[in-house]
Amino acid sequence: MILTDTATDLIATFPLGFVATVTKEGRPALSPKGTFLVLDHTTVAFGNIRSPGTLANLAHHPEVEVNFIDQWKRKGLRLRGSVRIVTDGTAEFTSLIGQWQEKWGDLADRITDLVLIDVASASEVTTPPYDDGATEAEMIAAYKVKFAEIYP
Ligand SMILES: Cc1cc2nc3c(=O)[nH]c(=O)nc-3n(C[C@H](O)[C@H](O)[C@H](O)COP(=O)(O)O)c2cc1C
Repeated sequence: MILTDTATDLIATFPLGFVATVTKEGRPALSPKGTFLVLDHTTVAFGNIRSPGTLANLAHHPEVEVNFIDQWKRKGLRLRGSVRIVTDGTAEFTSLIGQWQEKWGDLADRITDLVLIDVASASEVTTPPYDDGATEAEMIAAYKVKFAEIYP
């Protein structure tokens, strides 16, 4: 599955993805990961810093769904794919970790694994007001006001 330029830009700007996995018992599990990078047109990845539950779930079922949202535009991306874990100490980890060091500095030193997702499908998600004719400019303006009220 090829990631579009729009999808790539969204993840670069808003690298916080909500990662869904499945526990051994079959329960859904969701947790946020803010260290997402697009590695190429078919691969995204995040750094495991302290996500034991997600990693345990991936050990028995190596598939995820991830949502990324631009909270101003109220548009986002929903992707799913299979996962491959690249652990610190391997040549592949060494060749990749520089990209995290460049973007996150010292935080990257705490990454013990890179969770690579081979994207099988990706689709846009939008908020329902777009169905009624709202524009991106209107949504951004409205949420700038709302967020300024929360954190003036
Ligand atoms: C905004 C935000 C971003 C986060 N980013 C990451 C991350 O990139 N990597 C990571 O391992 N944990 C990250 N965390 C912490 C984990 O989500 C947190 O430790 C969580 O409890 C792990 O749950 P899990 O073990 O079920 O995945 C982040 C938390 C928040 C709130």
